[in-house]
Amino acid sequence: MKFIQTIAAVSVLAVSIVTPAFAQSAGGATYKAKCQMCHGADGQPTATGKSMKALPFNAPELTKASNATLIASIMNGKGRMPAYAGKLTDSQIKDVVAYIRTLQK
Ligand code: HEC
Repeated sequence: MKFIQTIAAVSVLAVSIVTPAFAQSAGGATYKAKCQMCHGADGQPTATGKSMKALPFNAPELTKASNATLIASIMNGKGRMPAYAGKLTDSQIKDVVAYIRTLQK
């Protein structure tokens, strides 16, 4: 019985460890499909992104910006960046911000 409880506890733990990694890869898929053409695979803007004045994601302005600020810019657009409210769900936007954070390291 104790053994079965341990297995159950371990599998609950495994699920909670796997979930953030999965969320991150979901963000990665959205990023590749919708954002990479301007922001680049590694967060350094492409020629298109640069011509529209996109900053690299590791610029201090963006590493310091809160998740709420980045989410608002993604939803409403900013400068020449298109708005994604209604095109991406709230959870897709949250996942893509988590993915952007991995590009800032
Ligand atoms: C057509 C090109 C283009 C696409 C596609 C694009 N962006 Fe942008 N993005 C920009 C530009 C240009 C800026 C700089 C806006 C400014 O500061 O004037 C920007 C800025 C940002 C910022 C910084 C916002 C801030 O508060 O300074 C984030 C975060 C961002 N983009 C995320 C995304 C995400 C996520 C996607 C995909 C869902 C995406 N972008 C798609 C062009 C693009």
